[in-house]
Amino acid sequence: MIDLSTLAPPAPAAEPNDATPKRVWFHTFGCQMNEYDTGKMRAQLRIDGYQDAAAPDEADLILLNTCSIREKAQVKVDSALGHYRRLKRLGQPVVIGVAGCVAQQEGQALLTRYPDLDLVFGPDGVPHVRKLVEEARSGRRVLDTDFLDLEAYPFVSDLDPSVDGIGAFVTIQKGCDNKCTFCIVPATRGAEASRPSTQVIDEVRGLVGKGVQEITLIGQNVNSYGLKTPGEVTFAQLLYEVAAVPGVSRIRYTTSHPRDMGDDVVAAYRDLPALASHLHLPVQSGSSAVLRRMKRFYTREHYLDVVNKLRAARPDLALTTDVIVGFPGETDDDFDATMALLDEAQFVTSFSFKYSQRPDTAALRLKDPVPDDVASERLSRWQVAQRVRSLAWTRGHEDQEVEVIIEGPSRHEPTVLCGRTSGNLMVNFPGDPSLVGRSALVRVTRGFTNTARGELIA
Ligand code: SAH
Ligand code: SF4
Ligand code: F3S
Repeated sequence: MIDLSTLAPPAPAAEPNDATPKRVWFHTFGCQMNEYDTGKMRAQLRIDGYQDAAAPDEADLILLNTCSIREKAQVKVDSALGHYRRLKRLGQPVVIGVAGCVAQQEGQALLTRYPDLDLVFGPDGVPHVRKLVEEARSGRRVLDTDFLDLEAYPFVSDLDPSVDGIGAFVTIQKGCDNKCTFCIVPATRGAEASRPSTQVIDEVRGLVGKGVQEITLIGQNVNSYGLKTPGEVTFAQLLYEVAAVPGVSRIRYTTSHPRDMGDDVVAAYRDLPALASHLHLPVQSGSSAVLRRMKRFYTREHYLDVVNKLRAARPDLALTTDVIVGFPGETDDDFDATMALLDEAQFVTSFSFKYSQRPDTAALRLKDPVPDDVASERLSRWQVAQRVRSLAWTRGHEDQEVEVIIEGPSRHEPTVLCGRTSGNLMVNFPGDPSLVGRSALVRVTRGFTNTARGELIA
């Protein structure tokens, strides 16, 4: 175990300690947090001469940034790791590291299970990745799953050198202080800490300087931003500050907790045209009884109340959600209440999951597990109904003129451009690649389940 007290704080302006070109291959699983953390690791390792490898078999360093939110996510990590370890067995001189939530959760067990694994560190190791990699390269097997001091949490300020598009994430907090009974995240990411708003704004400015127009603020429970830091602005105030940065055309954020969605944030939907007309507000279940067992601390009625307030402030708000089916004790009636919510709240899309047991979570102690076949049947009922609703939403745009920011040419057809509306609808339309980065008016000609086709007007 590395003694963190010996580690220097991250030094953005540090000199390269070794100019030899080296290649790193990142494999990122999981949520936006992990994607963002990978960008921060890339930025820091660049200081030591690491460039992105074109393929894993050209890498000197392979870092898996892992997710353990559901069992399936964790299984994916094992199989990817098997692939990379084979490269090493075939003689490639590569340092292999596992970072992220599986690393935090498994720690020493990973090093024991995989004798050729060099490095294991959790999300709080990200600010020290240079030091950790250096240690591992010197031949020591390194484990770092200590949580850092929240008071002066060293959020990394270096910008991800690979950011070159229209949108970028900016973290505003780390960890989570909630205790939703199904969730592994508080164990893998530790307690919540808000990033100073001055740093957030500096990063937004830096990204705008690189051509970014759309900022997505990320955290596990963004609505609680700043509340535990004396003198810090609230989440709503932060939205106003970000909107005031010249060059920011759109702001999104994720993830919001329905319990903490205050009237001040609702008001921001009235005041801030840059705030996107799309909100991801995970509900998890439409049954208040299930929500209670999940320790979500809101009811179905509260959720709908929040949605109604938001729609009054922003009538065209596109709402998306996360749903867990088959949570212990979920009855047919509970599930029917969730199904009914799909129409009541009018979710335009959703991520839906079968409940998956996670180590050391409180839900393990709950009675009345739902049989797997029942959970599967519920999941497919939800997903079929959601597809119908998603299609109705995209088709509802047909013959309308919508404003999009053009993100790039389509991957499959270079003469087709992809633009995103404020409501998060991706519209594909023929156009000249020189328009990338511009805003455009597009008439939607056809809606599909997740995207739409259109034609450029202006
Ligand atoms: N902080 C976010 C969610 C992060 S996890 C929030 O509070 O909404 C992303 C989603 O994964 C959750 O919204 C939930 O729907 C799902 N999820 C988390 N733990 C799960 C589990 N044990 N089984 C199934 N789905 C889970
Ligand atoms: Fe997990 Fe709940 Fe925290 Fe979201 S709010 S990360 S679901 S504990
Ligand atoms: Fe997965 Fe960790 Fe994110 S468990 S969803 S990578 S916070």
